[in-house]
Amino acid sequence: MVSESAASGATTELRTVWWDAGAVCLLDQTRLPHTQAIITCHTLADVAHAIKAMQVRGAPAIGITAAYGLALVAQQTVSDLPTMLAQLEAARTTLNAQRPTAVNLSWATARMLRVAQQCAAMQVEPLVLAARLLDEAHAIHAEDLAMCHAIGRHGAALIPERGHVLTHCNAGGLATAGYGTALAPIRTAHAAGRAVHVYVDETRPFLQGARLTAWELLQANIPLTLITDNMAGFMMQQGAIDCVIVGADRIVANGDVANKIGTYTLAVLAQAHQLPFYVAAPSSTIDVTLADGSQIPIEQRDPREVTHLAGQQIAPLGVVAAHPAFDITPHQLITAIITEQGVITPPFHPTLAAHAHAALAPVA
Ligand code: MRU
Repeated sequence: MVSESAASGATTELRTVWWDAGAVCLLDQTRLPHTQAIITCHTLADVAHAIKAMQVRGAPAIGITAAYGLALVAQQTVSDLPTMLAQLEAARTTLNAQRPTAVNLSWATARMLRVAQQCAAMQVEPLVLAARLLDEAHAIHAEDLAMCHAIGRHGAALIPERGHVLTHCNAGGLATAGYGTALAPIRTAHAAGRAVHVYVDETRPFLQGARLTAWELLQANIPLTLITDNMAGFMMQQGAIDCVIVGADRIVANGDVANKIGTYTLAVLAQAHQLPFYVAAPSSTIDVTLADGSQIPIEQRDPREVTHLAGQQIAPLGVVAAHPAFDITPHQLITAIITEQGVITPPFHPTLAAHAHAALAPVA
């Protein structure tokens, strides 16, 4: 069951996901910017639904949520070790299936399963296994926050003085443990007293830019201008944009990047206008098991999210609509990739392999 209660007042610190008294709590991102409501997930089904329905979204945030979801399963199925392992494996399959494109989800669940398997091999008490999994989920959470801050430090230097940055979707605190990836360099530059201005793509059809990034930047007092997606080319042509910074859902071995639908269009536009195009992501987003972007699974979402806006049908009844939720930006269009370990410039392959998180290897 999901219980909801309104969060009181405006917060300056973004809390996207957290563990509280044996439950996984989420700030419901489908209700922002108008309502700050907290969802309390008491079961695996609650967590899976929240991920699928995008009540929590953004690659790192869904990974953290899934990790807490597995900690929840462990606490609720304390029994003999083989049974616990089987339940955790089934839960991992369920969670991974909710959103296929962002590798952070399967990365986090693989890391949790690895810990469970290590505990089982050591024949620990079932209660110890459950406690150890909660510790690991907290570690994934804390590490993500630290990685975001490091991305901010590395990326801020790429933003020119009095720079105008275009971003797409929401790769901010809401999409992570709290500071963001694409928004991290912007936050860091702003915190250092530098003048930085953000153009925020609306990001049809789910409106992560208009609803979430705009809200988040307003909370942080960072100057912004909201534009619809189809205004980006004109803004570049007018000389209003100095660089583009986006997040990523998966970066594969050759540097191709999956990110929110519309990212590829921006990269082509940036190249046409000779503007730098940066991708910011933690190493948990790197998947060197795939050679190039053509192998990345692209989530196809309900076409209703295209034909409807805020619950209202805007397209004619019966019209056929497509809804690929992500696209692939070829590495040739990317100026640099910013991770917590530094700024990677082409050729991406050797450095990406070195940055890839050690825990990414699939669980046997
Ligand atoms: O469908 P969403 O809202 O989960 O898509 C989010 C994005 O595409 C983000 O840019 C990406 O996950 C990076 S978040 C730090």
